[in-house]
Amino acid sequence: MASERLERIRVSGDVPRHVAVIMDGNGRWARQRGLPRHMGHREGMKAVRETIEGAVEAGIEILTLFAFSTENWNRPEQEVAALMNLLQLYARKELPELRRQGVEVHVLGQIERLDAQTRRAVETIVNGTRGGTELRLNLMVSYGGREELVRAARLLAERVRDGTLAPEDIDEAALAGTLFTAGLPDPDLLIRTSGEYRISNFMLWQLAYTELHITPVLWPDFDREHLFEAVLDYQRRERRFGRVQAP
Ligand code: IPE
Ligand code: IPE
Ligand code: MG
Repeated sequence: MASERLERIRVSGDVPRHVAVIMDGNGRWARQRGLPRHMGHREGMKAVRETIEGAVEAGIEILTLFAFSTENWNRPEQEVAALMNLLQLYARKELPELRRQGVEVHVLGQIERLDAQTRRAVETIVNGTRGGTELRLNLMVSYGGREELVRAARLLAERVRDGTLAPEDIDEAALAGTLFTAGLPDPDLLIRTSGEYRISNFMLWQLAYTELHITPVLWPDFDREHLFEAVLDYQRRERRFGRVQAP
């Protein structure tokens, strides 16, 4: 049976093109069950699957998932290792299904900081899903918004030094074009799970006018119905971009 929420989304018609998600609450989900934190991360993979399927069903074009932040490198070594192993497992296990669904995976962030094995897994999933046309999935790994902006400044400075860019030609488009998300529209909707009201250094430039949906649901419990609920919430918003409503 098709979801009643999905029907309502379709009637409204205004589906967000780009949805970004801060997948938070894995540790708390595990703690509530007396389990080690890495079990929460593992369970979170199911929520990733659900969200991708839901995004395809709803007709979302781009899904961006915050999987590991630059600050997450400061977690205990064991937890970082567990998260890297999980990324490898994800790439191996999900590749056939992602291909079948027509999902094109991109991994954005400081990939060079990943260990060789994880980098290989990333390459496998990116190469193996290239050309998928149903959904573009951005997995943000070793990603930080400030670091991304610093990197952009450095790239632009290098072009100025090389004489291929004049300082007066540095505008919003030039800066946006040097971000990991170059060429993509900004997220229309940001979902954060686990009830935290903060951005945690995620897509600082791109979220300027994004609608925010914060849910108390912990990430491992998140499913497509929660995604549809967030989209319905988005559809009730009035986006103004600093302007006034047309009379
Ligand atoms: C999100 O869950 C996953 C990552 C940040 C990698 P957390 O691990 O942050 O879970 P909580 O916030 O401690 O519950
Ligand atoms: C943000 O969650 C990072 C990811 C979801 C990958 P965190 O759990 O790291 O953020 P804080 O520490 O609560 O701000
Ligand atoms: Mg957290």
